[in-house]
Amino acid sequence: MKYLIGIDIGTTGVKTILINQKGAVVAKSIKEYPLQTPKPGWAEQNPEDWWQATVASLKEILTKINPADIAGIGLSGQMHGSVFLDKNNRVLRPCILWCDQRTTKQCEDITAKIGAKKLIKLVANPALTGFTAGKVLWVRDNEPALYKKIRRILLPKDYIRFRLTNTFATEVSDASGTLFLDVKNRGWSKELLKKLDIPLEWLPACSESSEITGEITGAVAKLTGLKAGMPVVGGGGDQAAQAVGTGIVKMGIISITIGTSGVVFAFSDKPLYDPRGRLHTFCHAVPGKWHVMGVMLAAGGSLQWFRNNLGQEEITLAKKRAVDPYEILINNTKSIPPGSEGLVFLPYLCGERTPHADPDARGVFFGLTLKHTKAHLTRSVLEGVCFGLRDSLEIIKDMGILINEVRVSGGGARSKIWLQILADVINYEIITVEPAEGAAYGVALLAGVGTGVYQDIYQACRKSIKITSRLKPNPENVKIYNQRYRVFKSLYVSLKDKFKLGSLRLLI
Ligand code: XUL
Repeated sequence: MKYLIGIDIGTTGVKTILINQKGAVVAKSIKEYPLQTPKPGWAEQNPEDWWQATVASLKEILTKINPADIAGIGLSGQMHGSVFLDKNNRVLRPCILWCDQRTTKQCEDITAKIGAKKLIKLVANPALTGFTAGKVLWVRDNEPALYKKIRRILLPKDYIRFRLTNTFATEVSDASGTLFLDVKNRGWSKELLKKLDIPLEWLPACSESSEITGEITGAVAKLTGLKAGMPVVGGGGDQAAQAVGTGIVKMGIISITIGTSGVVFAFSDKPLYDPRGRLHTFCHAVPGKWHVMGVMLAAGGSLQWFRNNLGQEEITLAKKRAVDPYEILINNTKSIPPGSEGLVFLPYLCGERTPHADPDARGVFFGLTLKHTKAHLTRSVLEGVCFGLRDSLEIIKDMGILINEVRVSGGGARSKIWLQILADVINYEIITVEPAEGAAYGVALLAGVGTGVYQDIYQACRKSIKITSRLKPNPENVKIYNQRYRVFKSLYVSLKDKFKLGSLRLLI
C-alpha cells in the first residue's frame, strides 16, 4: 500500500494529513501558531512558526507507518502572503498576510502605472490590497533599507517547500494570487514585472500543481523521520487545493468554503472574467484549467471574533463538557427565527474583498432592540456570513456560469444549523462530501498524481471523494432571507462613505 502526505499552511495553524492510496485518512495532526496585528488592518505571521509547526506535525503523523511507503508530499497554504529572503536565504521580516489591508496606496499606484484594463490583460485581475504585489511595493516605499536586501519573494507554502527541499519553486494556482502571473498563459508576466521594476529572479520557478518540484533533503529526513529523496509536488493555493479536495474538477460544480475566509469557487475550462473585476480569475490546480472565485475576508473569522470576545461563558462551559464552544454558541440560536428578528450583521471585520474591494469597510450590527439577546447576535453573525457568500454567488450567476451542484466545506460546514441557513439564503440544495479534510487532502491527491499513484486528478477524485449529505432549502425561509438580503445589501451602500470617513479619522 502506498501513502501520501498533504500539508496545509493555514492562517490559524498547519494541518498535516497522511492518506493511503484508496483515499482513506490514516493520520492527522494540527499545530497552531499565533497571528500578529501590530496595527488595525495589519496581519503578520512569523515563517519560522510555520516551519516549527510543520516539523512537529510531520513527526506526529510519521509514527503510524513505514516512511519508505510514502510516495510523495503535496503543499498547500494561505495565499498571497509575502516571505522576503536575503542573499543568505534568511527571512527579512514577518510575512504580510492575505487579510492585511495596508496596501491601498500601492494598489492605486499599480493601477495608475499599468492602467486598469491593461492589468486585466496582463494578469487577469485588478490590484487588490490582499494580493502580493502591493505588499512588495509597500516594503519598497516604507522599509527601503530592508527592500535593498531582498533576493527572493516566496508564498507561505513555498517557504516551507524551500525548508523541506532546498529548492525555490511555486505552482500556478498560488502564483495567480501574486498579481505577477500571466494567468491566461500560466507563466510569470515579464511585462508587468518590468513595469513595476521587480526583478524576475526574485520569483521562484513556476510549474503546474501536480509536477514534482524537489525532494526531501537529508537534513530534513533526520529531523522529521521522512525518507530523504521523497518527491514534493507543486500543490496549490489553499482555495484551489480545497476545490480539488472536494472534487471541484469539472464545470457545473460550485464550491463554498467557510473557513477563516469565505470562498465561492467555480471551475472553468478557460479563463473567465467578471467585467467589473469583482471575482478573481486564477489558474486551477487541475492542469490546463482555471477558476473564478469570490473571497470574503471574515467568514469563520467573524464567528471566531464573536466567540473570543463575547463567548467567554460558552468557552468555559465547553471546557467543562469537553465540547466545542462553537457548538454551544450555535445550538443556542435554535429558538431564534430566520432573520434574527430584524438584526443584520455586516461581516466586514477585516474590510472586504468580494464584492466591495473595500479595505475601509467595517463590521456592523444593525437593528438592535431591547428584545435582542446574545443568541440573536450569534444567529445574525451566521446569517451575515451567508449573505456575504451570496454576494459572490450572485456575480457567478450573472456571469452565466452553470451551477448544477453546490458543495460546501470548511469548519463552518460542520454545523447543520449554519448549513441550513446557507441553503435558505442562497436557495440551492447543499451537498457535503467526505473525507472533509479540505486543502490538505487536495494536495495529498495532487502528490498522488505527480508520483504516479493515480493516473490523473479526475481518477484521484473519483476514487476518493464521496457525497455524504444533501440539504434542501426551506421555501418559507428563502422568502424571509430574500427580503433580509435586500436590507443587507442596502446597508453597505448607505455606509460606504461613512466607513471611509471613519478610517480617515483613525489616521488623524
Ligand atoms: C484567497 C484568500 C484566502 C486565503 C486564506 O484568495 O485570500 O482564502 O488563501 O485562506
